[in-house]
Amino acid sequence: MAKEDFVVTPWEVKGNIDYDKLIEQFGTKKITPELLGRMKKHTGELHHHLRRNIFFSHRDLDWILDEYEKGNKFFLYTGRAPSGPVHMGHLAVWQFTKWLQDKFDVELWFQFPDEEKFLFKDNLTLEDTKRWTFENALDVIALGFDPKKTFFLIDTVHANYMYKEACKIAKKITFSTAKSLFGFTNETNIGSIFYTAMQTVPAILPSILKGENIPCLIPAAIDQDPHWRVSRDVLPKLGFYKPTQIHGKFLPGLGGILEQGKMSSSLENTTIYSVDDAKTVKNKINKYAFSGGQVSVDDHRKMGGNPDIDVSYQWLLFFEENDDKVKKIREDYESGSLLTGELKAILIEKMNTILKEHQRKREQAKKVYDKFIFKE
Ligand code: TYM
Repeated sequence: MAKEDFVVTPWEVKGNIDYDKLIEQFGTKKITPELLGRMKKHTGELHHHLRRNIFFSHRDLDWILDEYEKGNKFFLYTGRAPSGPVHMGHLAVWQFTKWLQDKFDVELWFQFPDEEKFLFKDNLTLEDTKRWTFENALDVIALGFDPKKTFFLIDTVHANYMYKEACKIAKKITFSTAKSLFGFTNETNIGSIFYTAMQTVPAILPSILKGENIPCLIPAAIDQDPHWRVSRDVLPKLGFYKPTQIHGKFLPGLGGILEQGKMSSSLENTTIYSVDDAKTVKNKINKYAFSGGQVSVDDHRKMGGNPDIDVSYQWLLFFEENDDKVKKIREDYESGSLLTGELKAILIEKMNTILKEHQRKREQAKKVYDKFIFKE
């Protein structure tokens, strides 16, 4: 693979991702300062992921704000394919989703497609994905979503609501479209080919249940966008609005530019999971977090480090909300006064503070799990 090559699909993210090029390739739009200004009118302070261009791209965000300003509220839709433990990249997207729910005071429909990874991966059973659905749902609940406004859809549990709609959607998608969007071949199993129809359903289910068209905004990392291209093509043909999107960048794995792509649950050493204990977090960061520092302390003091390739710094952009702190860390690292070990210590402290609280709330979530499962 040439240096500038990268791949982003819902099932594979690799290479050195050029997000500007991705916007061109996918045909999405950059989030402009004007658009941020419009959001700020409704939200007050902007979320640090918006201030730092981590959520960087969109489809029709301007339209959804037009509708909101006319009094036509949207609902949020996002999801998680339960196939293993939740990692910090997932949590980052859902922290942002929670902020959107709070600021716009809207419903969130959260899909757990428990068939998705069963279909796409060889060694996962439906019993496994059922177990992961529960485990992953605890992480979502722990973030503090409003149980009165948050509805979990589990594909095999809510099939009675979803399957009929998925059939209507699937009838409008040809194999050739699915092949070109998702890279399917003749060897792909037919369950995988159908799956995108299931992922489109939650974008219209609230409209169907309420008997009126409701705008939908989907926050997710940009890997999911190929699904939304299908949804946006098909749903107007069935009489619904096109769902709109706000796209995030990927939290890199601890291996950073050596590893490339997004953090992946299957690479244990370079992934931090929501259930990792403090010692594990410390060890992983100290041992594996790619450093933009110099090889010797002397050189580092003289030449300074490069925060733009330093994973600890990149992670702080995602998780340290305080702009002044981040700015100071950047300056000190670049000047050489802050060493790699010290920067790692800042990240370890931050992650362990977040995870301690998260794990406490995750335990409590077990008691309220049922409240979040959609019931009519
Ligand atoms: P899944 O389970 O792979 O990922 C769940 C969510 O996390 C995002 N994500 C990341 N974000 C930042 N950094 C990373 N390293 C990272 N890795 C994953 C994903 O973009 C996603 O938002 N097919 C979906 C499940 C799904 C869904 C949805 C996702 C069903 N409906 C609606 C978003 C919106 C999936 O496999 O996601």
